[in-house]
Amino acid sequence: MLFETFTSAFSARSVVKILMKIDLAFTPFELEKKDLEGKAIVVIDSLRATSTMLTAFENGCAGFIPVASIEEARELAATLTDPNTLLGGERGARALEGFQVGNSPRDYSSERVRGKVVIMTTTNGTRALVTARQAGEIFIGAFLNLSAVCRRLKESGRDVMIACSGEKNLFCLEDFVCGGAMIACLSGEGSSLGMTDAARAAKILYEHFAPDICAMLEGSEWGQYLNGIGLGEDVRICAQIDSSNLVPVYRGGKVFLDR
Ligand code: MLT
Repeated sequence: MLFETFTSAFSARSVVKILMKIDLAFTPFELEKKDLEGKAIVVIDSLRATSTMLTAFENGCAGFIPVASIEEARELAATLTDPNTLLGGERGARALEGFQVGNSPRDYSSERVRGKVVIMTTTNGTRALVTARQAGEIFIGAFLNLSAVCRRLKESGRDVMIACSGEKNLFCLEDFVCGGAMIACLSGEGSSLGMTDAARAAKILYEHFAPDICAMLEGSEWGQYLNGIGLGEDVRICAQIDSSNLVPVYRGGKVFLDR
């Protein structure tokens, strides 16, 4: 799908045309340095923010307003009178004082979030979203909606940027491998053209961990931390590949379902 071959009338040499270029940014810090103009971006925070957002949408949540800081979240909430607005988020994976929901997918039950808009601040996921905002199209991705988000990326016909949320602007394994899974899904078997080195490395590492993604998540630094504070169930929820067909978009400062 990624290539068309033309045989020029004059020589037997075949010309390979790249239909989609795929790049990957390890952290929001690196994403800031990338040219995002006209690209389709998928923001990944597989443990746990984007997985939590998908779970919330599956349970009828109306949307998210991602912000970088706790202060911003409180200030915004103070200006909004709509009773259907909640404050959500975490630091150190623990819910924040005075916030109605944390960042565990289990916090976002239908009773809690159906019809609600959540002002959300997390350490890495919402930071990556805010950093990506000037791109052409921005999708929310995780293992939960892997195939669905790849369908949207293919449909967009744009070059792709995989934006990993990382851990405090440092590399994290789980987002890189999740990005690699999407690249494998987009590119099919055996092709490596159209990928930057970062994208190609992510695909290769995904192929290494593909037999047991849950074990990869549990073995990651953040996965071990979450397990250590009693949130191991969240890690297993975030490993449920293709359990959602939803692809939320981030546009005009809000995350919502556009179809
Ligand atoms: C983040 O955005 O940093 C993570 O989702 C943190 C967490 O797992 O709560």
